[in-house]
Amino acid sequence: MRNDRVVLRPMTPEDLVRVAMIQQASPEAASWEPAEYLKYRCVVAECGGEVAGFAVVHEVAPGEIELLNLAVLPSLRRQGVGRALIGAFPAGSDIYLEVRESNRIAQELYLSTGFRLIGRRPGYYEGPTEDAIVMLRQKC
Ligand SMILES: CC(C)(COP(=O)(O)OP(=O)(O)OC[C@H]1O[C@@H](n2cnc3c(N)ncnc32)[C@H](O)[C@@H]1OP(=O)(O)O)[C@@H](O)C(=O)NCCC(=O)NCCS
Repeated sequence: MRNDRVVLRPMTPEDLVRVAMIQQASPEAASWEPAEYLKYRCVVAECGGEVAGFAVVHEVAPGEIELLNLAVLPSLRRQGVGRALIGAFPAGSDIYLEVRESNRIAQELYLSTGFRLIGRRPGYYEGPTEDAIVMLRQKC
């Protein structure tokens, strides 16, 4: 499966059970009450009619977006779903994100989709305590 078989659409309340399942299977991702996502810009990626992943962003200021969460079902990873979800982010905004220093796979995804490292927040994460790597993709 590659990107052309991934369908992106807005997240709806009917998706929340599946989103919760993907989140639970993705301990590297942020863990929110899934219904909270609907207050933000959230998108799901469907493969074969099933939700395979989701992304949530927040417009913190005009032209400035923060990535709140991104996760793909483990059994459907490395098939272009994460890249497709990032493709849904607005190109006309600066996009900021934080990622655990140990989460090399997500960092690889971000580096391969135009993000660059701009800083580090020592001890930003709890359970376990870990630095955050801060990344930015500047608007086109
Ligand atoms: C990070 C995550 C979203 C990637 O999703 P995905 O659908 O597997 O990613 P893609 O298949 O689109 O991969 C795109 C690129 O990311 C990088 N990548 C993805 N998985 C990788 C892996 N296991 N090892 C190394 N690089 C990897 C590669 O550069 C890849 O491009 P390529 O396949 O052409 O080499 C997924 O692994 C995940 O849900 N992880 C747990 C949650 C998480 O870490 N979220 C981010 C929190 S900040």
